[in-house]
Amino acid sequence: MFANGGLGLATTPPMGWNSWNSFSCDVTEEDIRTAADQLVETGLRDAGYEYLVVDDCWMAETLDDDGRLRPHPETFPSGIEPLAEYIHDRGLKFGIYSSAGTRTCQDYPASLGREGLHAQQFADWGVDYLKYDNCGDHRGKDAIARYSAMGKALAEVDRDIVYSICEWGENEPWLWGRNVGGHLWRSTFDIVAKWSANRFEFGLGIVDIIDRMAERTIESSHGPGGWNDPDMLQVGNGPDSGQSELEDVAIERGLTEAEERTHFSFWCLFGAPLMAGNDLAEMDDRTRELLTNEDAIAIDQDPLGIQGTRDGVLDETEIWSKRLAGDECAVILFNRSESTTDIETTVETVDMPVDAETYTAWDIWNDEVFETDGRIHATVEPHDVAFMRLSPE
Ligand code: GLA
Repeated sequence: MFANGGLGLATTPPMGWNSWNSFSCDVTEEDIRTAADQLVETGLRDAGYEYLVVDDCWMAETLDDDGRLRPHPETFPSGIEPLAEYIHDRGLKFGIYSSAGTRTCQDYPASLGREGLHAQQFADWGVDYLKYDNCGDHRGKDAIARYSAMGKALAEVDRDIVYSICEWGENEPWLWGRNVGGHLWRSTFDIVAKWSANRFEFGLGIVDIIDRMAERTIESSHGPGGWNDPDMLQVGNGPDSGQSELEDVAIERGLTEAEERTHFSFWCLFGAPLMAGNDLAEMDDRTRELLTNEDAIAIDQDPLGIQGTRDGVLDETEIWSKRLAGDECAVILFNRSESTTDIETTVETVDMPVDAETYTAWDIWNDEVFETDGRIHATVEPHDVAFMRLSPE
């Protein structure tokens, strides 16, 4: 196991904002500075979103003569170090992107074979987080070799850098991510701003990822310092977002209010890294209120760091839960169907660790508290959830 300078790094799932879903390859240093200002002004930083990550396309078409990465001369003309400083000055942390291959997914130069050199550049620039993708030529090396080369390089620089492994869950990174120094690893392929994608188009919709997370029994790999990552948030995005326009996916409409609530509730129940991906300068109140809901975020950031799992399925309804610190438990009642449905369960079904005569249930989205003898019930709209926090009295 590599030390990665990182005892104490990512002890709860990292939270932040990443440029990809809204800007895709059209990202500039100005967009990043605006995003930094917006994270502060909108209250997202104070709600916990601290890492500001520039995704693909920040680099020049070629490496310099020594093999170093260079910022793109037109879109990042001031250089990376001043940008990192701008971000740090606003009480945020700075993340950057490269790939464990010869090129990035958008065909810019990447880091395979130059891990030490690039890790040193990142450290010198003041980088706090590296998202490391899986594109380009792998030169015959398997994923563990490629990802451990960067993990080792990051461990050797004199700076704490959160290491986000992005190989789309292809080589079961939950089995080796921690051992190569990773703090989070994508469990699934790219998320798109769509409820459900068909298999002929690019990416996975919200409900597709929920299904994969139920099928892959990977929760034992998840916990403080190393997290399964079902990909970044699409809350606030739709057909006009950068990634929706770039990738080969048909998006006719944005997610409905219920679908966005479901998306965010599940990511919190998974204990997923929460990387917002919407255009913060265009954010409406609905999106801001969803992304900054303290009770939902507290479930995501719960110190036990347990990933929520599916406890039951009945027709098109599902019961999910996540054990929390202090003998509490978070519950989702999920209605996948097209009609309003009553959903019912009891404390015996969910991950409530103790028996009690009565429990207090806190309904997060309706902001209501009620007492129960253990029965949990809600009327749930199509594609919506009831999201609750239960504690024994
Ligand atoms: C891959 C990753 C995405 C994004 C793009 C950038 O598809 O999975 O999250 O980083 O590359 O090109």
